[in-house]
Amino acid sequence: MNDWNAKSYDETHDYVWQMGAGVVELLQPQAGELILDLGCGTGHLTAQIAARGAKVVGFDASPAMLKTARREFPHLDFRLADARDFDFPERFDAVFSNAALHWIHESELAIERVAHHLKPGGRFVAEMGGQGNVAALETALRDAAQSLHLPPFEDFNYFPSVGEYAALLENGGFEVNFATLFDRPTPLDGPRGARNWLVQFRGAYLDSLQTKRREAVLEEAEKRLRPILFRDGQWFADYRRLRFVARKKG
Ligand code: BEZ
Repeated sequence: MNDWNAKSYDETHDYVWQMGAGVVELLQPQAGELILDLGCGTGHLTAQIAARGAKVVGFDASPAMLKTARREFPHLDFRLADARDFDFPERFDAVFSNAALHWIHESELAIERVAHHLKPGGRFVAEMGGQGNVAALETALRDAAQSLHLPPFEDFNYFPSVGEYAALLENGGFEVNFATLFDRPTPLDGPRGARNWLVQFRGAYLDSLQTKRREAVLEEAEKRLRPILFRDGQWFADYRRLRFVARKKG
C-alpha cells in the first residue's frame, strides 16, 4: 500500500468506510469478542466494531492513516504493520477487513498471517475489490495514456474472482461459508468526481508525469469516462465487491 492522503481519503472518499458498514453487519461483532481490523485506514469501521462492545485492534501500513485514526479515536488500539508479515501476541475471535486486501498481491502471505492470529473456528470476514472492479476507470486511464503517447499505465491492484480467492482461503486452512461478487456503482462527490478518484488512487502513476502531461491525461480519461460513468449529473465509480465469510478449521 502507498502512503495515503488521509485527509482527502476521509473527506472526499468517505464512501470507502461508509459503504463498509454492511461488512460490519456481516461480521456481527459480539460484546467481549477480540477482533482484528486488517487495513483499518482512518479507523471509522474499527470504531463501529468497538461500539458493539467488542475489543478491537486496528492495523494499517500507512502512518498517515494511523495518525488520523489515533487523532479521531484516541481510545482505540491502532498499530503500524504490514498485512503480509504482521505479528501480534493476541489470538482473535475474528479478523475483519474492508477495502484493503486488494492492495496485497501476495495474498497467500496475508491469509497465512490471518489464520495464525485466529483462534480455532475464528472467522475471517472481509470485503475487497473483486474481478472487474474499477475496470472502466482503469481502461480509460490506460487508453488515455496510450493515445497521448505517455508511459504506459499498469494496473496495480489485485481484484480476484470468487473462485480464485476461495481457493486461496481453502489452501490457507479456511472453510469458506459465504462468498459473493456484486456490482456496487459508487457515487463520487462533485463535478470532478472521476478525476478526483484517479488523483487519489492512481496518484503514483499521475505524479510520475510532468504537470502538463498529467493534466492532459486526466482530461482525456475524463472525456472517455463521461459516457460510461456520468449519469443524471452524477459521477459513479464502477466498483465490484468481493465479500466473504470464512472460518479457520480445527
Ligand atoms: C476499492 O475500494 O475497490 C478501490 C479503492 C481504491 C483503488 C482501487 C480500488
